[in-house]
Amino acid sequence: LRLILVGYGNVGKSFHNLLDQKREMLRRVHGLTPKVVAVVDKGGAAIDPRGLRYDAVSRVKHRSGTVSAMPGAGRSGAKASDIIGDVDSEAMVELTPSNLRDGEPGMTHIIEAMRSGKHVITANKGPLALALPALDELALHNGVRLLFSGTVGGGTPFISLIRRSMRGNEVVSLRGILNGTTNFVLSSMERNRSTLEDALSDAKRLGYAEADSSLDVNGLDAAAKLAILTNVTFGRKITVSDVAVEGIGSIDQGAILRASERKTPIRLVAEASPEVMGVAPREVSADDPLCVYGPLNAMCLAMEGGWQVSVVGKGAGGLETAQAVLRDLVELRESLSSPGQAPGSPVESLYG
Ligand SMILES: NC(=O)c1ccc[n+]([C@@H]2O[C@H](COP(=O)([O-])OP(=O)(O)OC[C@H]3O[C@@H](n4cnc5c(N)ncnc54)[C@H](OP(=O)(O)O)[C@@H]3O)[C@@H](O)[C@H]2O)c1
Repeated sequence: LRLILVGYGNVGKSFHNLLDQKREMLRRVHGLTPKVVAVVDKGGAAIDPRGLRYDAVSRVKHRSGTVSAMPGAGRSGAKASDIIGDVDSEAMVELTPSNLRDGEPGMTHIIEAMRSGKHVITANKGPLALALPALDELALHNGVRLLFSGTVGGGTPFISLIRRSMRGNEVVSLRGILNGTTNFVLSSMERNRSTLEDALSDAKRLGYAEADSSLDVNGLDAAAKLAILTNVTFGRKITVSDVAVEGIGSIDQGAILRASERKTPIRLVAEASPEVMGVAPREVSADDPLCVYGPLNAMCLAMEGGWQVSVVGKGAGGLETAQAVLRDLVELRESLSSPGQAPGSPVESLYG
C-alpha cells in the first residue's frame, strides 16, 4: 500500500516512525506492507517511489527544517495539492494543523485526494467538523474510504468503538469529556486551587495545550469533536455550527470549589441526543464515568435498554494519535482485501 504523508509534525513523524518500527508485525499479522512514497511539509516534498524511511526523512527534517532538503528526493517549494494529484499511491494520510474557520489546508488536500481516487486517513478535525456529510458523499462518489479515528480522543478508540464494536446496538445518547486541556485546567482549579490563567500556563508548559489555547477554553475544540461524533453515532448530518457552545472562560474558582464540596465537580461536558447537542460546563457526580482528572478524555454511551458503555483514555499526544492513524491503515487494508470489496467498489457511508 503506497502512502503520501501530508504534514510531518508531531503526529506525522510519530506515524512514520511507527510504520518502520512495526514493519515486520504489520506484514506478518495484517499482510500490510506500507510504503511511504512522498512526504510533504510547508517547505516542499520528498518523493521516492521505492519508499522513504523514517530515519532518513526525520534526520533531514531535523537538520534543515523541511523534508524537501532530502538529497535526490527533495522538491523544494512543491505544493501538497500537486503531489497528491501527481504521485502514484493508494492513500493519503493528512496530518496538517486543524483549522476550524475554513478547514484549510486539510480540506483541499482531502478533496484532491478523493478526486484522484485515493483513500484518505486523517487526524485533522477541521475539515470533518465543518463538512463531514459532504466529504462522506465525495468519498462514496469516488469509491474511496475516509477514515478519521484520530480526530476524537487521540489514541483512545472513541470513533472505532462506535463504528466497529457497537454495530447492531442502538446508542440513545452520548456524553463526553472531549478536550484534555480544559479537563486539566478544571482539575487544577479544583485540586490545587489554581487560577484559570495559572492552570492554563501549566497545561502549556506540560505540552497539553496549544500555544493558542482559545479554542480549548471557548469550547470550540470540544464542539468540533462532538459534531464528528454526532455524525458517526446518530447518522445526523451536522457540522460544528449546529452545536451550542459555552466554554470555561467565565468560570470562577469559587464555583468550582463549591461544586467540589458537594462532590459534583465541574467538567466541560459535550452531550448529544435527539433533543440536545451542546458543550457546556456541568456538575457531574463523583461516581460518573465522566468525572476524570488531569488531561484525560472520557466518553459514556447510554444504550437502548438502559445500559451504559464508557471509555476513558489519553485524549492527545503525537504517538497516541499516530496509533489511531495506524489502526485506520490496518482497517483500510482489511477492507480492500475483504471479499466483495475490491478497490474502487462502493464503500459504506456513515449515514446508512
Ligand atoms: N498532536 C496531537 O496530540 C493531536 C491529537 C489529535 C489530533 N491531532 C491532529 O493531528 C494533526 C497534526 O497534528 P500535529 O500535532 O502533528 O501538528 P504539527 O506538529 O503542527 O504538524 C503539522 C504539520 O503540517 C505541516 N503543514 C502545515 N501546513 C501545510 C501545508 N499547507 N502543506 C503541507 N504541510 C503543511 C507542517 O509543516 P512544517 O513542519 O513545515 O511546519 C507540519 O509538518 C492536526 O490536525 C491535529 O489537530 C493532533
